[in-house]
Amino acid sequence: MPDTLTVTDNRTGQTYELPIQYGTYPEYGAAIRCLDLRNIKASEDDFGLLAYDPGFTNTASCKSSITHIDGERGILRYRGYPIQDLAEEYTFLEVAYLILNGELPDDSQRDTWVSHITNHSMIHEKIKKFMEGFKYDAHPMGMLVSTVAALSTFYPESRNVTDPAVRALQIRRLVAKMPTIAAFAYRSNVGFPYSYPDNELSYTGNFLSMMFKMTEPRYRPDPALEKALDVLFILHADHEQNCGTNAMRSVGSSHADPYVSVAAAAAALYGPRHGGANEQVLRMLNEIGHVDRVPQYVERVKAGDFRLMGFGHRVYKNYDPRAKILKRMADQVFELTGKNPMLDIALELERIALEDDYFVSRKLYPNVDFYSGIIYQAMGFPVEMFPVLFAIPRTIGWLAQWQEMLEDPDQRIARPRQIYTGEDERSPG
Ligand code: CMC
Repeated sequence: MPDTLTVTDNRTGQTYELPIQYGTYPEYGAAIRCLDLRNIKASEDDFGLLAYDPGFTNTASCKSSITHIDGERGILRYRGYPIQDLAEEYTFLEVAYLILNGELPDDSQRDTWVSHITNHSMIHEKIKKFMEGFKYDAHPMGMLVSTVAALSTFYPESRNVTDPAVRALQIRRLVAKMPTIAAFAYRSNVGFPYSYPDNELSYTGNFLSMMFKMTEPRYRPDPALEKALDVLFILHADHEQNCGTNAMRSVGSSHADPYVSVAAAAAALYGPRHGGANEQVLRMLNEIGHVDRVPQYVERVKAGDFRLMGFGHRVYKNYDPRAKILKRMADQVFELTGKNPMLDIALELERIALEDDYFVSRKLYPNVDFYSGIIYQAMGFPVEMFPVLFAIPRTIGWLAQWQEMLEDPDQRIARPRQIYTGEDERSPG
């Protein structure tokens, strides 16, 4: 059987044969090229058929070999490795290397990569001054977005996006500096002196030190919490063509430098329907306040008053595999930190929702944001920092996808079409 699609245009009676394309495995997706639709015309001077797809619900914007999600079966893999295996056996920086380079590092590659990241974690003192310009109650995510964009002015060579060596250097800088900027945003808000990076610590250990170090000469992170944060970072590192990544690819497609492109991606992530949902979950649990009030809250969700935050996903129509790992991890973290009272409300919310036809029929399950906030809060992070904690590891995915986009000969500047619905030409008189 030929790999084609036969389309008959009933306006003209004409038939067209469109080639079908596959990725590596046919069962992981097949597509037609939208541009082939352009040949389908109602008349000689017709522009040709467009594909109408608001929110890109059924549009493959790229070919990608980074992350595979099977939303029906709840599967997530980076470069072919199941997320569960990576979370158990590797560190965040090893997984970051895998996502960026396609293979897990050997010992020497890992040591070089870790040392590169460690050596780029400082930020220019002027950046620190820049951050001091924010109002005392500025949201740390707004500070992160603006400060990452400001880095662009410190590294003007980064505009040379077609040079792989220049790109590699900016990738190291961004991966290394995101935790520093994030922690400085927090310390600036609470009025604590900045805690500078500690090169002896791991990526997540150092982040905890920059966040929480007080007067002790040396901050020593609890190894179990450091590992928990590492796993959280692994789970958030990439998620194929989500809203933030789409922003990264779209802005990057104009050959804007990676700092402003990451700022755009982080801005997209900030929204409550995306990475800002973890913050909203905690606010929601606080508002519910007690397990007894869960049924009443769920009724209001069903009535359309608001959405259940941390529930639902464009791709997962099954339990989000990241949420499964986090649900298990919550107990381990609470053994060290003491139980977050919000957990009982979350468990009850999940139980009731998963039994309710409204959620079952729409295939709405807990997503990664449902349990992450409860864990972050138990670890001592303030609620406003939750989206920032998402942005730090997701920087890996953004940069890997950006690189892939720049190296892909199929890619062009992102420029969708529209179906015009306004007035036809008219005269002001
Ligand atoms: N609570 C109640 N109803 C919901 C929810 C929810 N959380 N999510 C979707 N629905 C309903 C929605 O009202 C619609 O119902 P109907 O068919 O009756 O109109 C149906 O389910 C389909 O929803 P949709 O908005 O068309 O689905 P989408 O794929 O466009 O949206 C989503 C996906 C994640 C934006 C959405 O599920 C949502 O807003 N969830 C809450 C926010 C959230 O937790 N976001 C984090 C996503 S995971 C991490 C990340 O990638 O950032």
